[in-house]
Amino acid sequence: MASNDTASSPPAVEWIGDHNGHLRLIDQTLLPTTLRLVECRNVETVWDAIKMLRVRGAPAIGIAAAYGVVLSQQAGLSKTSHSAATAARAAADYLATSRPTAVNLFWALDRMRAVIDEHQADPSLPEKLLTEAQAIHVEDQAMCRAIGKHGAALIPDGATLITHCNAGGLATAEYGTALSVMFTCQDEGKGISVYADETRPLWQGARLTAWELQQRGIPTTVICDSMAAHVMQTRKIDAVITGADRITARGDAANKIGTYGLAVVARYHNVPFYVAAPSSTFDMQLVDGRDIPIEQRDASEIVAPYGNSIAPDGIGVYNPAFDVTPAELITALITERGVIQPVTQNAIEQHFQHERALEAK
Ligand code: MRU
Repeated sequence: MASNDTASSPPAVEWIGDHNGHLRLIDQTLLPTTLRLVECRNVETVWDAIKMLRVRGAPAIGIAAAYGVVLSQQAGLSKTSHSAATAARAAADYLATSRPTAVNLFWALDRMRAVIDEHQADPSLPEKLLTEAQAIHVEDQAMCRAIGKHGAALIPDGATLITHCNAGGLATAEYGTALSVMFTCQDEGKGISVYADETRPLWQGARLTAWELQQRGIPTTVICDSMAAHVMQTRKIDAVITGADRITARGDAANKIGTYGLAVVARYHNVPFYVAAPSSTFDMQLVDGRDIPIEQRDASEIVAPYGNSIAPDGIGVYNPAFDVTPAELITALITERGVIQPVTQNAIEQHFQHERALEAK
């Protein structure tokens, strides 16, 4: 299928059928030149899709993994409920080994484990698991929309923005986090334009963010990651907005490698730096961002992109997939519940406590 075929673009993550159905993903490694679907009918295929970034982006990984647990109920399982629960637990443990940084993965799997624990002796466990996975999916859609609304209120008319990696519809259930802010600005007629960092080594910015923004008709310019400082120095940039893979209790935020450098440059140039993420991206068990596990990926992603060798054989390579931006560099966090500014542990705790109190009423 041709690139930018917006009219027929399927969702990034989709469950087909009932609890005996399967998971359908867009293979994001092939975008934007090829729009190919991956049909996942067992847990191993889902693990592989997450590991290889066919499905990627913190919320989308969590959703896919939740559906992966549902798939554990199908493959050659004897019909006893005991083995169903055992298979589901094993699937959750296995899927948790796919990627280490995005906490949404572990958050979603914990929700699935709670359902296994509650219904382990129930013959309808497969249906219960599907209901929970679908709830995670639908809730993410709502969270993305709300993030967009809260974030758009921070962005002036006619703003020029920079983003890094892809925090759009492809990375979530729908609409995205950082890109949801941009899509909402556009819905509100704000006339924004965007610089998209290409995002080495895997080009999520050039391949995916540029594709999504172009589909929406938002004027977009792709730049090399190393150009962002020059762009801030020479052009009027109103804000940087990125997503996150894990945010600690004090507000340190892990996101795609290069985000931290962008935040340092934004601070130097007095450009507001916003991080947009749902509550499922917060890890309140961790305080210091230096404790966030950083995924190390294969050297070939840097020295042999798409199989084309670009460096001497045998050269040393360091390929951390994420970095951590300290809270001090983040102007505000944008969640589905509102805006956290300034970014402090106290403000984050109050943000979630206040909402929990409202939910309890
Ligand atoms: O390695 P990736 O492509 O999964 O990294 C994704 C990011 O860094 C995103 O910015 C983050 O997950 C937020 S997605 C809403």
